[in-house]
Amino acid sequence: MDEDAPRALPAVSRLEPRDELPDPLEPLDGDRVRTAEDWRERRRELRRLLRHYVYGYAPEAPDIETETERTAGVLDGAATLVETEIGFPDLPADAPSITLALYLPTEVADADESAPVLLGLNWGGNHAAVADEAVTITDRAREYGADERGVASDYWCVDRVLSRGYGFATYHLADVDPDNPDRADGIRPYFDDELPGPPGTEWGSLAAWAWGLQRCVDALRERDGVRSDEIAVTGHSRCGKAALLAGATDERIGLVAPHQSGTGGTALSRDNGQESVGDITGTFPHWFADTFSAFHGQVDRLPVDAHCLAALVAPRPLIDTEGARDYWANPGRALDALRAAEPVWELLGEDGAADDLPLHEGDEMSEETVGAVCQFRRETEHTLDAGYVDAILDFADVHFDRA
Ligand code: GCU
Repeated sequence: MDEDAPRALPAVSRLEPRDELPDPLEPLDGDRVRTAEDWRERRRELRRLLRHYVYGYAPEAPDIETETERTAGVLDGAATLVETEIGFPDLPADAPSITLALYLPTEVADADESAPVLLGLNWGGNHAAVADEAVTITDRAREYGADERGVASDYWCVDRVLSRGYGFATYHLADVDPDNPDRADGIRPYFDDELPGPPGTEWGSLAAWAWGLQRCVDALRERDGVRSDEIAVTGHSRCGKAALLAGATDERIGLVAPHQSGTGGTALSRDNGQESVGDITGTFPHWFADTFSAFHGQVDRLPVDAHCLAALVAPRPLIDTEGARDYWANPGRALDALRAAEPVWELLGEDGAADDLPLHEGDEMSEETVGAVCQFRRETEHTLDAGYVDAILDFADVHFDRA
């Protein structure tokens, strides 16, 4: 049976309110999870619950077809740019496609070697993430992206990523879904007849962006130069929510790094005290399945929460990067989620999280200090910059045996 095929699940009003967080190791019915095999079953259940009540059901992975163009010597000679157009042959010709920009360090590309790759979801267009005339400004980016090339280059710091021996890959969220409450002009309408869930559980933008990241993984794994088991996924804020969802639900992704992802990402919805379910579904109803908004004012009925999404990443490594002054994203409730998810890593034989989380700037990252689950904080508000990129790569160095 398809792991996401919906069994009848109760209406929100029929879910039992509970005081405690749902235990990721306690299935809805049946015995507590004690083995890795039991966990596979519970993992399927959690994934289904998260889709049903929070993010919505995405369609199955479709066939893709790709067309690629390589340009050597971009970023002042630091990288080879590989642009891939990812199309969907089974969809009508007017359906959107994804433009994936991959930068490989020149020494890796020239020597026919391969590199680990940081895959980030961007909001301003591929041309905004990297200032180089070689980057295509897509039609979608002209419509929905930033006006100027390179406006987000200090944010993504791709030169830094390359200098650390990693490739960088990115796609613009509007390729898949332009973050539009009326759903117009994205990929979702093309799959209306193929979604596995009942009415009200259709995928929202977060699930669509996550699905887009997974299509990028499909394409990256076919590319020379990419270490297919060392693809790390990241994104900031709403893109961090999507990155966590993508990484949690796709075991091909080797490391997951949601950045300041907040409610709907790593921060628990229960007792959040910052952005509530009512706030987020009121302002961004299109991000989630319609079912999620029903938890407004009754968040204690949620049978899952952010810790369950985080737990789906196990046994793979997860780093949650946060700004200590980014109150709205709620680093404290994100840390609580990681702690509540940690028993799953331990069950699977991994060290969970170090005792003294969060780590801060300057703290050493090594196998001894980070474990498989880590939270790292810097003294910033809501932003992405080289300090965070370095932390993600320090953590990746440990887990990809580069430290
Ligand atoms: C809003 C929203 C957050 C989100 C952020 C962003 O602040 O409330 O949940 O993370 O936008 O994506 O920038």
